Amino acid sequence: MIRAFRGEILAVPRDPLRDGPEAIVHHADGLLLVEDGIVAACGPFADLADRVARTAVTPLAGLIVPGFVDTHVHYPQVGAIAAHGGQLLDWLDRHIFPAETAFADRAHADAAAAFFLDRLLDHGTTTALVFPTVHEGSVDALFDAALARGMRIVSGKVLMDLGPPGLRDTASGGRAESEALIARWRGRGRIGYAVTPRFALTSTDAQLEAAGALLAAHPQALLHTHLAENHAEIAAVARRFTTAADYLDVYDRFGLVGPRSVFAHCVHLGDRALGRMAQAGAGIACCPTSNLFLGSGLFDLARADSFGVGVGIGSDVGAGTTLSILGTLGELYKVCQLRGQNLDPFRALHLATAGGAAILGLADRIGGLLAGQEADFVVLDPAATPLLARRTAGRPLAERLFALQILGDDRAVAATYVAGERVAPPAGA
Ligand code: GUN
Ligand code: ZN
Repeated sequence: MIRAFRGEILAVPRDPLRDGPEAIVHHADGLLLVEDGIVAACGPFADLADRVARTAVTPLAGLIVPGFVDTHVHYPQVGAIAAHGGQLLDWLDRHIFPAETAFADRAHADAAAAFFLDRLLDHGTTTALVFPTVHEGSVDALFDAALARGMRIVSGKVLMDLGPPGLRDTASGGRAESEALIARWRGRGRIGYAVTPRFALTSTDAQLEAAGALLAAHPQALLHTHLAENHAEIAAVARRFTTAADYLDVYDRFGLVGPRSVFAHCVHLGDRALGRMAQAGAGIACCPTSNLFLGSGLFDLARADSFGVGVGIGSDVGAGTTLSILGTLGELYKVCQLRGQNLDPFRALHLATAGGAAILGLADRIGGLLAGQEADFVVLDPAATPLLARRTAGRPLAERLFALQILGDDRAVAATYVAGERVAPPAGA
């Protein structure tokens, strides 16, 4: 099956911070050729016109960019977004644990998973690393819904044997359920597994050890957890793990820090931890709307960059306040401003696509619209709202892209394509 799309194409497969303007790929009149869901070619239309002489070419108005990668989001928390009051630990107790308890019911999980994935697609997100709940069925619900949509979704049962009543597993039970899920979902569709201890405070030492064993036993699996988000959380970790050098070291002692590890937040990390993350090849899911909403702090992007730690973008809904990765980039821009740093819009797009793919170990598969990669892409409409239209009309690419990040959300996503097929808006809409 061959499909061809013609329009303005922008991708940032490499990091402009390291590689400069060479990292940016832009074709004002480009052609994206897709064969069986894979990018066969992407380049100037004039150079590729011969290859589509006998193929119907679909013109796409707007700016074609790679599908967004959300490197940290909680699907069971979508219905608890915008819950008023309290910082992290209080917010979890008051709002989040009750919402997650309902996912013991498979029908509830199925409906929530379908709603969540449809909203990701509306917002232009085609790949995500997702927290479900402690319930095994919450993972099956998400993976079934992802399979039905052809989406690249990575998730894994939340391990939390120190959770509240009704939302707690055991070290051995959590390990057995994880093993069963890994066996059940291996090699199906575009599903990936992540060993997912909620955070250090909700697992016993025995469970953290089991998580390390799972990670060691399954070389394709990621490790997904929270790290150094909030001062009260960090103090509680220090009180419990008195011999650890710092919060990261708690995870390290259980074999949870390596090139397949993704740590959400990392707002308050010392030099030792950042150096160790760089050495281990671990990645950071940066979640600016969540860090602002819960008052967690201002992520220091330049510092993570100076250590060479890989960074992706996370919406972190329900602490995050939008599923829009465009909107999340706008908030990251402002956080950088508060730290005296300047986030370039092309770098921002890189973090939201190929940068996120890299920390998920998917750099070869997605994120850059490179030949051989999966053809997940989004058509952005720089005139989606009257304000956007007024700001972007006739403006250069960098200005249009930045305006989309500051003013854009799902309204600016004209269409989302998964493996070369339009999935949002759905056919007939
Ligand atoms: N730390 C442990 N659990 C959570 C969660 O659900 N959300 C956030 N933002 N941080 C956490
Ligand atoms: Zn989170």
